[in-house]
Amino acid sequence: MMKHTKRLFFLGLMAVMALGCQENTNKKTGKMEMKKINYGETDGKTIYQYTLANGNGMVVKLINFGGIVTNLFVPDENGKPVDVVLGYDSLQQYIEDSSYFGAIVGRYGNRIAKGQFTLDGQTFNLAVNNGPNHLHGGIKGFNKVVWDSDPFIFPEKVGVVLTYLSKNGEEGYPGNLKVKVTYTLTNDNELKIDYEATTDKPTVINLTHHSYFNLKGAGNGDILDHQLQIMADDYLPVDPTLIPTGELRAVKQSAMDFTTPHSIGSRIKQVEGGYDHTWVLNDYNGKMRLGAKVTEPASGITMKVFTDQPGIQFYSGNFLDGTVTGKNGKRYFKHFGFCLETQHYPDSPNHPEFPPVVLKPGEKYETHTVYQFSSGNNTKAK
Ligand code: GLA
Repeated sequence: MMKHTKRLFFLGLMAVMALGCQENTNKKTGKMEMKKINYGETDGKTIYQYTLANGNGMVVKLINFGGIVTNLFVPDENGKPVDVVLGYDSLQQYIEDSSYFGAIVGRYGNRIAKGQFTLDGQTFNLAVNNGPNHLHGGIKGFNKVVWDSDPFIFPEKVGVVLTYLSKNGEEGYPGNLKVKVTYTLTNDNELKIDYEATTDKPTVINLTHHSYFNLKGAGNGDILDHQLQIMADDYLPVDPTLIPTGELRAVKQSAMDFTTPHSIGSRIKQVEGGYDHTWVLNDYNGKMRLGAKVTEPASGITMKVFTDQPGIQFYSGNFLDGTVTGKNGKRYFKHFGFCLETQHYPDSPNHPEFPPVVLKPGEKYETHTVYQFSSGNNTKAK
């Protein structure tokens, strides 16, 4: 009897271990599907790629390295799936990437002048990695770390919870910061990104997502014909190193005016270097509202960006120069993708007049952004 119990226990243990080691899984609930595969290894940790599908033709693939969205398939107006984000075919290329393709950016997305700020009378020196400034969290920002990942699936949504502990002093930032980012694909063709964080010392935080979109498909030409609308009456002029001067300037009668739809290319030559600015979104009151809308005439795909954040960085892929080879061997040249990074204003830690970005112990940082897609034949998500 004793022997039998032991044997059962042993078999049970083996089964639990086998489940624990199981790297490739497939799950289906209602129309939602989730697949998890082994994508490689870095920093001694396994990287997984999750495929989320919603049965309406939208498929999101993401990895727990950098929280990177590697693929985002949206049906065009003929129902043909189009991969609308730039990216690579291998983990190694994401490790070497310097464009932040598809990644979660933090601890402070965008720039902090001279990599310096003062908090409660103490000056902090951050990694300087962009000319004289700090950019996107530093040398090894949240886009280059391995996140813990936990998938979930329900009949109306499927997603992955990513968590990361950014240690006190990492890239110069104070406080142990516990970060949680949840990617969710819904039945309504939305990719939702929910950001949460807590800290044990006062710190600054500004998390964002850095997908480069091309609604014609990654690698299929430039984005200059995309029609863009940004719900913002003002933008932030910048100095030559792309640090806001502090002025909020009206967009009216300038190449920055996207209050009504304009093609990205129609006035881009009037903006030195191309668009790489923060627009001050209207109606900032902590609630979700439409921040931007982009339509691509050939595919008929429309993307709407909803957010509770005060600003949006519209970047027209100015630094892409064809030197890197992206997915399917296609090279990405200047303006082959655009980013709409929902966020607080750049350099806010040095601008007391900007909405605050300080997170204190006992407080919870919580922000939300939704990228919603629709196309001619997709009436549901219109
Ligand atoms: C952001 C910045 C740009 C550039 C890209 C990454 O959008 O504002 O200046 O650094 O990231 O290349």
